[in-house]
Amino acid sequence: MSDPFYQLQWQLLVDPLLTARQIQIWVATLSCRVPDIAGNKWLKLKYHIQQIQQHNKKGILSFGGAFSNHLVALAAAGQHFGFHTVGIVRSSAPDWHNPTLTRCRELGMQLQFVQPEQYRQKQQPEFLAWLQSQYPDFLFVPEGGSSPLALPGLAELPITRTPAGTASLIACATASGGTLAGLIAAHPDTSVLGISVVKDSSLPDRIDQLLPVQHSNWQLRQEQSQKPYGKFTQQTLQFCLDLAQQQIYTEPVYSGKALHSLVGWAQQGDFAPGSHIAFFHTGGLQGLAGLYYRGLINQQQYQLLLGSVNVAGPAE
Ligand SMILES: Cc1ncc(COP(=O)(O)O)c(C=O)c1O
Repeated sequence: MSDPFYQLQWQLLVDPLLTARQIQIWVATLSCRVPDIAGNKWLKLKYHIQQIQQHNKKGILSFGGAFSNHLVALAAAGQHFGFHTVGIVRSSAPDWHNPTLTRCRELGMQLQFVQPEQYRQKQQPEFLAWLQSQYPDFLFVPEGGSSPLALPGLAELPITRTPAGTASLIACATASGGTLAGLIAAHPDTSVLGISVVKDSSLPDRIDQLLPVQHSNWQLRQEQSQKPYGKFTQQTLQFCLDLAQQQIYTEPVYSGKALHSLVGWAQQGDFAPGSHIAFFHTGGLQGLAGLYYRGLINQQQYQLLLGSVNVAGPAE
């Protein structure tokens, strides 16, 4: 990957049970010169940005929840590349102190709050036409950045080329499906596993629709804790804290949750001995601030998960 805008780092996940089963899990972390766009964000946004530049659009409008990693990334891209950004936020009661929305505003994003019932219409032509009348010169990007334009960016990630050779399986956390679709399309000869962190029965169909042609090299599996999107068990949190000891920094909503399932499946023998798994760490560490803000993790956990040097303990 020659793009100096981002950098790929590989880390081998150390676990005695995996070693005993001769399974390697390599974690691929993508950092970016603009830290808010790390992980899958830049890859998904890159060709949307190219599109607005080619078509002289004023900016990008997209959708997300009140703690959306995607909206922060979009806002950061807008500030860095000099285009306007609008975030349509699902919220019944706007909270201006929420760290994610605060960050979006600091980065210049204009926020418009809509009630959850209205937000559910985000793909309906009438709702979109109403928004289009307010933002006529904007490119509309679906929630999570998952449009067909997300796919070519993902194709640039050399995810199968781990330091120990070619991966036999690619895995990642999946929510709106664009990341998984990009990896499936780019690696038709490799097995790809999406680990769904949302409960959404329409997700496989939506992934199929994003793919230019049908592929059979992929599988979508529900993460194993069975917790709703955004919630996590103490075991998943502890797993993420243990990973941080290996300098693999994750959050328990996306990559930490997915990796917890993947390791559990590997330990129980779901993958053949000799499997060589490349796990794409999709970023999202900004979400830790929101977890701390809502009291879902304490300050020390927050700092440990973030890899902050200051781990002196809670100041509250
Ligand atoms: C940190 C993080 N990881 C994974 C995902 C899931 O990616 P996708 O929505 O493309 O399935 C998201 C959502 O975009 C995310 O914010």
